[in-house]
Amino acid sequence: MPMTLTFHETQYPEQVAMQCRQGLRARKLPGRLLYDSPAQAQRWLAYHQAYSPSRTEPELLALYERSFQAAIAALTGQPLHYVSLGCGGGNKDALFVRHALDYGGALHVSPTDTSAALVLETMLRLQGTFPALSASPLVVDLAAEPDLDSWLAQQEADGARRVFGCFGMIPNFDYAALLSYLRRLLRPDDLLLISANLSPGPYGSAAAQRILPQYDNPLARAWFSGLLDSLGFADADLRLAVRARPLREDGHIWRIQADARVLQDVQLALDEELFDFREGEVLEVFFSNRFTPTALPQVLDDAGFKVGQTWVLDSQEEGIYLCQRS
Ligand SMILES: C[S@@+](CC[C@H](N)C(=O)[O-])C[C@H]1O[C@@H](n2cnc3c(N)ncnc32)[C@H](O)[C@@H]1O
Repeated sequence: MPMTLTFHETQYPEQVAMQCRQGLRARKLPGRLLYDSPAQAQRWLAYHQAYSPSRTEPELLALYERSFQAAIAALTGQPLHYVSLGCGGGNKDALFVRHALDYGGALHVSPTDTSAALVLETMLRLQGTFPALSASPLVVDLAAEPDLDSWLAQQEADGARRVFGCFGMIPNFDYAALLSYLRRLLRPDDLLLISANLSPGPYGSAAAQRILPQYDNPLARAWFSGLLDSLGFADADLRLAVRARPLREDGHIWRIQADARVLQDVQLALDEELFDFREGEVLEVFFSNRFTPTALPQVLDDAGFKVGQTWVLDSQEEGIYLCQRS
């Protein structure tokens, strides 16, 4: 059956091309480009399947299920609008829907992502498992902080309560900007389930060191290189390095970063603009923020969220937080 996806204006080709040019000028590629094309979406799925704790640790899925049950239990009979922000392959969303169907009230689901291929993947998963599900898939750049309220209202029944799922997004965004956007997106009664990659110890600790190989492996490198390749770099032009650096003095927030060092002068052409890269320059390709389990609740609090319940994996490498606007 054909599938209809809605494209938000933040995903119109001129917007995407402009971001690409800005990223090349600033030597900092927008994170969404890593997922955008169908080929990049496939590379990410391959990497995610092999390395994401949600795919490799059954205990984590059980934790997600508990958080979904808690969010659903907080509802009081209103129609439910579940909005997945950055749905990826839709595994967690399918799990949410399975629990939400037991809720009994009307359910509508809006999977959103910057990658049309991943929104499609999610929809195929949802429709394959729940053929009667009412859904409105949206391709959107959330980093552009679009005002989605009226679009969401058009999709849902009157008086619907919104539950936003935002899983694995805070690591790849400017986290303060993302949280301030989410704070604006949420209405006072809406619920937010947000998950983050955690770090059992601060920057530099042995626990933190153990995380690095999750981002420095052949599948991750193929994912990073796929983007560089699509922009016109040759393998011989660049050397990728994955490293960690602190974002806060006490090391409780730190970042894993993949940078490409230019090995020889190279000129790229994009939309009639020329980009000259000189030997020795560095291009930021990817980052993932890590928070210790003590730092993240404070970050959420500072951003204007009240955390109701928290679920943290025994390994302390992932946490899920059920929040409302404070
Ligand atoms: C680490 S994955 C998490 C996927 C899924 N939520 C999960 O937990 O498995 C991050 C997701 O965010 C999406 N994404 C990245 N930047 C985005 C942006 N600017 N706007 C919307 N989605 C974005 C990616 O396409 C990807 O699906």
